[in-house]
Amino acid sequence: MKILAIESSCDDTAAAVVEDGREVLSSVIASQVPEHILYGGVVPEIASRRHCESVSGVCREALSTAGLTIDDIDAIACTYAPGLIGALLVGVNFAKGLSYSTGKPLIPVHHLRSHIASNYITHKDLKPPFLALVVSGGHTHLINVKSYTDYEIVGRTRDDAAGEAMDKAARTMGLPYPGGLNMDRVCADGDPASYKFPSPKIQGSELDFSFSGLKTAVINLVHNLTQKGEEIDVKNIGASYISCVVNILCDRTQKAIDIIHPEKLVLAGGVSANSVLRREMKKLADKNKIELFVPELKFCGDNAAMVGSQGYYEFLDGKTASLKLNATAALDIDKNVTI
Ligand code: KG4
Ligand code: ZN
Repeated sequence: MKILAIESSCDDTAAAVVEDGREVLSSVIASQVPEHILYGGVVPEIASRRHCESVSGVCREALSTAGLTIDDIDAIACTYAPGLIGALLVGVNFAKGLSYSTGKPLIPVHHLRSHIASNYITHKDLKPPFLALVVSGGHTHLINVKSYTDYEIVGRTRDDAAGEAMDKAARTMGLPYPGGLNMDRVCADGDPASYKFPSPKIQGSELDFSFSGLKTAVINLVHNLTQKGEEIDVKNIGASYISCVVNILCDRTQKAIDIIHPEKLVLAGGVSANSVLRREMKKLADKNKIELFVPELKFCGDNAAMVGSQGYYEFLDGKTASLKLNATAALDIDKNVTI
């Protein structure tokens, strides 16, 4: 079964063709980074407008790269939640139009489910159940993935997401957007033990995360140094900050492993590209004698191939939508649309 998938939840307009959930026949991304870099972050209104301009072209390119026409496609999948509402609406409405004009089924895909599925296209034999740590710009979740479409959230952030905390810290230190990615590159040879940051715990919820205190701490540190006229030691501050975020992620993941006893651990989301996180999670998996799965770097950030993969499993589970499908800015991964 060949699925044409569309992703527009944030600042990338993407389309892909995926066969039977595992074979990526094409994956096209129109990045908006050069535009948003001017503002230090994603400007939602600009993102929506660029999606409108790009969506048709990326779909055409995804089809032509795969050597196919729309007649060869069996279903249309699109990200419908969660994300920037104006951005999601572009992909959803384009997908609805394609579904209406071709008579092909419409498959709604949850963004975090698709991030997890980036591992299905990277590791062809990976199957649920497993424990997943999903770390993106907007979400930080520990999820017990029971099947391709059955999820239990076992831990979540109470405030900021890990990616957001990385981006804000990077911006405070003067690094360009996308901050997390640039901090990873610039601070790779910094000393992670040179600065100490707070590592908050949430009483009564040992699997939950909190990153806002950490974010405030780095902002205060940088402002204090600036006021005293001292130089910002970007490499060492960044390396220490990344180390603190990764330690928090590893600590909660270890606790979840102790409770759930999974055989497999899966990383997903934009922050899963982080070199320190990948290295430390490998150590943690080895210590627990469980297998670690991480997405190929090109599938860590937002892309449509992961949407095409998850769309296949949603389709097998009967989760198609009517043309009443709407975009939703906030929706937990364990919920389904009822359309
Ligand atoms: O999953 P994603 O592409 O978009 C959302 O669904 O939010 O994640 C984007 C996030 C951003 O916060 C970005 O800074 C972060 O992933 N990110 C990284 C790295 N690459 C992207 N954070 C740390 N290290 C990286 N190498
Ligand atoms: Zn994402």
